Amino acid sequence: MKQATATATPNLALVKYWGKRDSNLILPAAGSLSLTLDIFPTTTTVEVREDLRADDFSLNGITQTGVPAERVTQFLRHVRELAGSNSFARVTSHNEAPTAAGLASSASGFAALATAASAAYGLDLSQRDLSRLARRGSGSACRSVIPRVAVWHAGNDDETSFAEEVAAPAMAMVILVVDGAKKAVSSREAMRSTARTSPFYAAWITSTEATLREMLEACATDDFARIGEITELNALRMHATIQACDPPIRYLAPRSVAAFDRVAELRNSGVPAYATADAGPNVAVLTRPEYTSQVAAALQDLGTTHIAHAGQGAHLLTTGEESS
Ligand code: PMV
Repeated sequence: MKQATATATPNLALVKYWGKRDSNLILPAAGSLSLTLDIFPTTTTVEVREDLRADDFSLNGITQTGVPAERVTQFLRHVRELAGSNSFARVTSHNEAPTAAGLASSASGFAALATAASAAYGLDLSQRDLSRLARRGSGSACRSVIPRVAVWHAGNDDETSFAEEVAAPAMAMVILVVDGAKKAVSSREAMRSTARTSPFYAAWITSTEATLREMLEACATDDFARIGEITELNALRMHATIQACDPPIRYLAPRSVAAFDRVAELRNSGVPAYATADAGPNVAVLTRPEYTSQVAAALQDLGTTHIAHAGQGAHLLTTGEESS
């Protein structure tokens, strides 16, 4: 029996991925850029076992069935193909994010699974190939393989669509978990609906391509204020595009909007802070590491705050062979 354990953390996009050009290979319609966080890790052990008749997946001690189990099996099928193996695996995963946080657990989950499964099945992948593999589980997972700031090149095929690190100024985030967060429409479903029904979708994609070029320039020139402005603008454009779906999908709640206003007030008082939000009501505030406590204090009446710094990217904790 071969086994490996890996850990990975969520990432938060400063330039968002929202739309696929190939949903089979999970190729995005445009590139994106994110900060890998150092909080809420997912730790996953994969044991390749001759005695199993099917894959087995447990999350936080509970055996999974239905869609989550099927997504893991589909992913492992791809790993087995790459490794030329017929053996099933036991996947044991622990996710430290509070359930209500809605914090890209699919990104940390598939980055940890890709890292552990590739090692357990004996694949020796480069960081680029690991990122490509994680992408097949959940698009944004390809960025959680990468430490600190990651650009996901949209690419034109499986080979060319991967994430890699880019140099950027020191940044941190304050995550605001808004009270009373309701379960949102899944990003997969909402992305599909946006491409099909939002009249703004084409403009969103072309503007995001231009935004990503500008963001890379701002990172290269160490221009934190510009990085922040682009982050907030890109998030609001994504939400505007999603809200224009038919039927409409609205992820931002009144408290999320209040948080954006609060962040604008902070900025007016000289604090470098810029708001963003993914497919849910929670808000993430990009700031400089030395301002995190001040930003968190300013938001605390709107929900629960968590401070995050730049994280390491997915990595193996242990790997080994045991007799089963
Ligand atoms: O990888 P997915 O399917 O969970 O999509 C992630 C979508 C956003 O979080 C909203 C944006 C992003 O780039 O992470």
